[in-house]
Amino acid sequence: PAEWAVPGRAAGADTICVVFDVLRATSTVVTALAHGARGMIPVGTLEEAVAWRRRDPECLLAGERGGLRPGPDQTGGVPFDFGNSPREFTPERVRDRLIVFTTTNGSRALQACEAAQAVLAGSFLNLGATVQVVRRLEPRRVTLVCAGTGPETALEDVLAAGAFLDLWRGMDTEAAWTDAAAAAWLAWCRAAGDLSAALRYSANARRLAARAGLRDDIAWCLQRDRFEWAVWWAGPEAGLRGAP
Ligand code: MLT
Repeated sequence: PAEWAVPGRAAGADTICVVFDVLRATSTVVTALAHGARGMIPVGTLEEAVAWRRRDPECLLAGERGGLRPGPDQTGGVPFDFGNSPREFTPERVRDRLIVFTTTNGSRALQACEAAQAVLAGSFLNLGATVQVVRRLEPRRVTLVCAGTGPETALEDVLAAGAFLDLWRGMDTEAAWTDAAAAAWLAWCRAAGDLSAALRYSANARRLAARAGLRDDIAWCLQRDRFEWAVWWAGPEAGLRGAP
């Protein structure tokens, strides 16, 4: 690639975007698809998710607001099948199903990249496979989109971007990195030896750790290369698809 950026510049048709929302949206998408879901459709609002269900009663609904599964009071009584915990998306529950999901930042970050040449969902769970696919696409420009939390940077997204760059380094010594990309890589170099310890500085990790039932999501999302699956955007009706 001629250029790297972290986080995103406007994604044009000459740009490949890799979106990271490690805690938890992209980790959840990767888990669901690797466990056999047919597709994951990101939508921005609860209303859009409910409208999908009305059009397609077979689709499943997933997501979070404030980290928790939306309740019937937020969805006009339409029940959501999942929250945003990747551990809920077991093969038994997701195989061959189309899942519409809405989260605070992750689903919107994915949607925001629609105009790019290609959009991939990245996470520690599928980092190696993601790097390989991006490399095969011989990109001119790659933007690593760190989805963050609300308007804030999320440390774990920056570290995943840094880990991505670390894998790329050595394969492509000609790549020109932005300063933001270099900062992400340098942060990763400091954190890589003990990622769990580094995550003590993450507000998202602290928030999940404080919630009964969600603490184990952190360890799940930090697993490195559990899945040899790449996940990419396949259009508004198909959503995100995955393949080994
Ligand atoms: C998001 O999309 O903002 C996050 O993944 C939030 C979460 O999982 O709690």
